[in-house]
Amino acid sequence: MKAYRLESFGDIDALRLHEEPDPRPQRGEVLVRIRAVALNYRDLAIVRGRYPRKAVPGLIPVSDAAGEIVAVGEQVTAFKVGDRVVGAFHPRWFGGEMPATIQADSYGAESDGWLCELKAVSQEAVVALPDSLTYEEGCTLPCAGLTAWTALAGPTPVRAGHTVLVQGSGGVSIFALQLARALGATVIATTSADSKAERLRALGATHIVNYRQDADWGRRVRALTGGRGVDRVVEVGGPGTIAQSLKAVAVGGEIASIGFLSTENPGIDFFQLKLSGASFRNITVGDRSGLLELIRAAVGVGLKPVIDRTFAFEDARGALSYLESGQHLGKVVVSGPR
Ligand SMILES: NC(=O)c1ccc[n+]([C@@H]2O[C@H](COP(=O)([O-])OP(=O)(O)OC[C@H]3O[C@@H](n4cnc5c(N)ncnc54)[C@H](OP(=O)(O)O)[C@@H]3O)[C@@H](O)[C@H]2O)c1
Repeated sequence: MKAYRLESFGDIDALRLHEEPDPRPQRGEVLVRIRAVALNYRDLAIVRGRYPRKAVPGLIPVSDAAGEIVAVGEQVTAFKVGDRVVGAFHPRWFGGEMPATIQADSYGAESDGWLCELKAVSQEAVVALPDSLTYEEGCTLPCAGLTAWTALAGPTPVRAGHTVLVQGSGGVSIFALQLARALGATVIATTSADSKAERLRALGATHIVNYRQDADWGRRVRALTGGRGVDRVVEVGGPGTIAQSLKAVAVGGEIASIGFLSTENPGIDFFQLKLSGASFRNITVGDRSGLLELIRAAVGVGLKPVIDRTFAFEDARGALSYLESGQHLGKVVVSGPR
């Protein structure tokens, strides 16, 4: 089979295509022919050596894929040959508390990922892909889709009447925009690109704030809520955006802490955090039961993942460069090998 491996960290050219023996499904495993994979900022962070967690070189990268089952091992009862499936981001987090294996299982960081032709995984590590979603759409759900779902759920789920702040136009933020609208919430979106404003509005954002043009954009977001603040911040910027997010959030609101897009790290002011009256919840994508819920919700409301561009398998390096350019809105996808 064809498989990319990331031989060292720092450069996209370290991603090399190899010919390798086909994997064979063991007991309880399914063999998936990969039809599409979705790129996340995390994949780029690993390639560039900027991933804040442990990553080992030489692995097959990428966490998110959809494909077709082409063989099953002994004692597989959940799926049969021909079934369409999506991989779970955390292959052994089924629900409840996060398992201790979470890091060791981490696709592309500590275990082989999905940027390849065939993958043998436990039948519990995939879920069914409904007919209404294409492979390209399905592969966007395990990380970006589920992270947005988890960020809007939690102890105080977002509901009609709430206001949600999404930052930038990347994969997680666009899913959060779509899902928040589906829940009846009002969405305020930030972006650095005025050219993306119309698209964000068409997807349902009521207000757009350019975070490059207005350094104090948190205050502006708060003003757009009549001074009350937003109920939920889908926080993907991290160290460089948290101070503004704290200005934007309502008393009793929540900052769902997801990302680390900004490179600067000025630190957090304890009193700003305390006096915001908001809660801070750390998100680690989500579990398998959340992925099942998200898929049911997507089918139920007819949500179509926003795919900016699909690259050929042979152009995976081009796809990563495109993601890095930040030109995209929504997801960047790579087709499985033909
Ligand atoms: N904790 C978790 O469970 C989890 C799960 C998924 C993702 N993440 C993290 O969440 C972040 C987003 O991931 P993604 O895959 O959605 O990224 P992505 O698709 O690459 O999104 C990038 C977009 O974010 C915007 N952006 C860039 N720098 C920004 C900044 N300093 N402030 C605000 N917006 C900025 C830009 O949008 P504009 O062009 O519109 O400005 C850019 O196009 C990453 O840090 C990722 O690692 C964490």
